[in-house]
Amino acid sequence: MAHTHDGIDWTERIVALRRADSLDAEFNRAVAERLVDSLTPGGSPPVVVDIGSGAGGMSAAFAAALASRGGGRVVLADAVEELLTVAVEHTRGVAGDTVQVEGVQVDAADENLPDLLPAADLVWASRVVHHLPDQQKAIDRLARLLAPGGWLAMSEGGLATRCLPWDLGIGEPGLGSRLTAARDTWFERMRAEMPGSVRLPIGWTSALAVAGLSDTRSFSFVVDHPAPASEPVRQSVVDWLVWMSGVGEDGLSESDREVVQRLLDPDDEAYVGARDDVFVLGASTVHLGRRA
Ligand SMILES: C[S@@+](CC[C@H](N)C(=O)[O-])C[C@H]1O[C@@H](n2cnc3c(N)ncnc32)[C@H](O)[C@@H]1O
Repeated sequence: MAHTHDGIDWTERIVALRRADSLDAEFNRAVAERLVDSLTPGGSPPVVVDIGSGAGGMSAAFAAALASRGGGRVVLADAVEELLTVAVEHTRGVAGDTVQVEGVQVDAADENLPDLLPAADLVWASRVVHHLPDQQKAIDRLARLLAPGGWLAMSEGGLATRCLPWDLGIGEPGLGSRLTAARDTWFERMRAEMPGSVRLPIGWTSALAVAGLSDTRSFSFVVDHPAPASEPVRQSVVDWLVWMSGVGEDGLSESDREVVQRLLDPDDEAYVGARDDVFVLGASTVHLGRRA
């Protein structure tokens, strides 16, 4: 297992991350285009660095946005080699001739990060900073990757994703809310138990300002795949339930755990992947700051 600070086996998550990227491609595309359009045109083609690039969905969206605007360079940076390989391959598949794509295996908590990556017009870091021990230091470091006038954009927080009807017909109603609460308890523990963990007692835009960035702001976007659910949406709900019940296992009652087991069993009549009344509804927030 690659070295990360969170004790999570990210290699195991490749298939689910790839499926989520594929399902959310249109939302990723809109965010990538918005951010690329906010870059100040300069002499050389823009450089985008994607920190914690996962399965590469946003890198691919950046590559496509840059390709349709004259070209550029996308650098994917992740701690997990297996993910990086998949993500680079996926991004190259949409980049065309005008966009250069490369992957760099890094630990985003490494003090030498700015020596390992090029100066960037846009640094994108989605759902990775909260996996690092000292989040303020991590943001300070990401800010140091910026070329003058460059933007740091972090996707963190938003609204918890909802996927299930309130009453599933088995177990107690409200399972989705209990899964969210159990996941939040796990999250708190994951952060507390991370070696060298430091609390971040301020909001994300304040942390960007502490890192010396200006023009700080946020925007949120909704991810909405309503019922009746298509096959990819049902599969995504299965992926969500596997993740939520896995990390939240300790916080669920015995009866909820039994219900989850039935919902995840393709041979059970209660299998969640066979229901068309499931859905994916969530919102993500992007926090931005600019280097003067
Ligand atoms: C929740 S996933 C987010 C993936 C993608 N950015 C997204 O939003 O879908 C977290 C990613 O951060 C990577 N990661 C975790 N710890 C890291 C570290 N210390 N340095 C670099 N990447 C890390 C994981 O390998 C994984 O790809």
